Amino acid sequence: MIQVRVGAFFLTCLLFLGLFAACAPTAVDHEQVSESDKIVIRFSHVVGEDTPKGQAARLFAKLMKERTNGKVEVQVFSNGSLYKDSEELNALAEGHVQMIAPALSKLSNLVPELGAFDLPYLYSDLDGYHRVFDGQIGQAIARKLEKHNMLLLAAWDSGFKQFTNNLRPIREPQDMAGLTMRIMPSAVLGQQFNLLQVRPIEMNFNDVYLALEQGKIQGQENTISNIYSKRFYKVQNYMTLSDHGYLGYLVVIDRTFWNRLPAGVQSVILETMREVTNWERTQAVKLEQAKLQEIYNCRCIQIERLTETQKAKWKQFYQPLYADMQQRLGQDFFRELNLTP
Ligand code: LMR
Repeated sequence: MIQVRVGAFFLTCLLFLGLFAACAPTAVDHEQVSESDKIVIRFSHVVGEDTPKGQAARLFAKLMKERTNGKVEVQVFSNGSLYKDSEELNALAEGHVQMIAPALSKLSNLVPELGAFDLPYLYSDLDGYHRVFDGQIGQAIARKLEKHNMLLLAAWDSGFKQFTNNLRPIREPQDMAGLTMRIMPSAVLGQQFNLLQVRPIEMNFNDVYLALEQGKIQGQENTISNIYSKRFYKVQNYMTLSDHGYLGYLVVIDRTFWNRLPAGVQSVILETMREVTNWERTQAVKLEQAKLQEIYNCRCIQIERLTETQKAKWKQFYQPLYADMQQRLGQDFFRELNLTP
């Protein structure tokens, strides 16, 4: 009896489903796209989640999923968990990842013009950098990156770099002499530290904490969100808020991969990236303030802030670097860099 009832119920359901399927428009559940329909973008970067780049990458992934109903899945790999800074470019070229967002300094070997942004005190505020990247120079840099099979999607901020070290408070350029410090791979950064009589050591970002802790290096330069998220301040005695250099990123996607994407998906990526970039730049400023407060709160590192007069002295000290850069990159490029609002 029970069997008959269950059978009848089952039949009714089938009939209903059959009729429904015949009359109703084909139901499309975008969240359930099959694996073969899915476009996966692997986005690798080296910083923590709680940084402007880390947060923006995740926001980009979230919005892309929502806006393509799950068709595009951006998989974000933070903290260098897939590739270290020194491996990222190769990983992109070989198709192991499709998106990266390296610091400008790390691209300066490929595009020497990017070395100009390692000049200390080039612009006094972030707007100066935004104007350049969002303008003609940005386009010229994009063309140069295309030659390396990368499409430039955006320029993101981390912020201004500060010095930390273990030996002494840094107020004047002369205070740096004799230190061994980690730098990112960049000829201009190397030159800058040589000028300061510092021994610069190029090192991957995720190796810095241990090197500081073990005393292999005595200091480093980075932005507040990186100093905070990687706990550099816990293994350093002094921090100088010098705002001496810009740490920004170029978000790039592999050109071959891009060319194969449907035009609709390309538009969603561009539109979403525009929005995320606006958000990222504002968030970078907010995070810097919040994280600096946290570092103050720990009372575990002596903090000095350079005055505008002190900064002007440092800028003056760096003039040989400016002269050298002008000679290398040409008068025209240099004039464009100094565009005033
Ligand atoms: C660094 O290597 O210090 C930074 O470029 C890390 C980053 O991506 O912010």
